[in-house]
Amino acid sequence: MAQVAAQVMAIDGLPPALATLLSRHSLGGKHLAEPGPDDAALQLMAQAALRAPDHAGLVPFRFKLVRGEARGRLAALFERVAREAGKDEAEARIDAERALRPPVTVAVVARIDLGHPLVPAHEQWAAVGGAITNFLNAAHALGFAGKMLSGHKVRQPAIQAAFCEAGETLVGWISLGTPTRAVSPGHAKAGVGDVLSDWN
Ligand SMILES: Cc1cc2nc3c(=O)[nH]c(=O)nc-3n(C[C@H](O)[C@H](O)[C@H](O)COP(=O)(O)O)c2cc1C
Repeated sequence: MAQVAAQVMAIDGLPPALATLLSRHSLGGKHLAEPGPDDAALQLMAQAALRAPDHAGLVPFRFKLVRGEARGRLAALFERVAREAGKDEAEARIDAERALRPPVTVAVVARIDLGHPLVPAHEQWAAVGGAITNFLNAAHALGFAGKMLSGHKVRQPAIQAAFCEAGETLVGWISLGTPTRAVSPGHAKAGVGDVLSDWN
């Protein structure tokens, strides 16, 4: 773990934790290789997710690990659902590859209490977003890379049923692995001036 952590980009003069936050970028499955994060690394990522701001401590999220042989089962599910949705053979194989290629896939499941007396749904969703972000930042700090993905698959009942209990929402999947190339910005981002201004 120490070896991969050394890949985190150094930014001169910044506290290391901030340099880590400022150098995280997403990396898709085709640029992720073995080894994926082990138990110890995944537990640190989950610990970081649990440090997200969370009104009333509802913990409105769960992470389900897909690794080892489970990847084959997820691939088969993706392939079957793709065929049922009318995709051709080649497209169905591409969907299967999405489950097979990343060393570890982490399903993100939200459990939003719509009737909570104190915490409205949007605050619970904010906690889910914070958890995802902290999880990804922890992965980056440990030298791994990954990407949060959703797409039409999260709305397929057979796939939802494979991950969710009643009342839960399948948000998507975080692909994780060792980066095979340096992470870099995928597209232009908003500037600080777009999001930070004085209130008058
Ligand atoms: C809940 C959620 C779902 C997402 N789903 C997708 C997706 O299906 N496809 C995609 O290309 N990006 C998706 N993204 C965006 C990427 O994960 C990523 O943030 C984006 O490509 C920007 O890259 P960056 O993280 O390096 O800034 C999703 C992000 C979130 C938070």
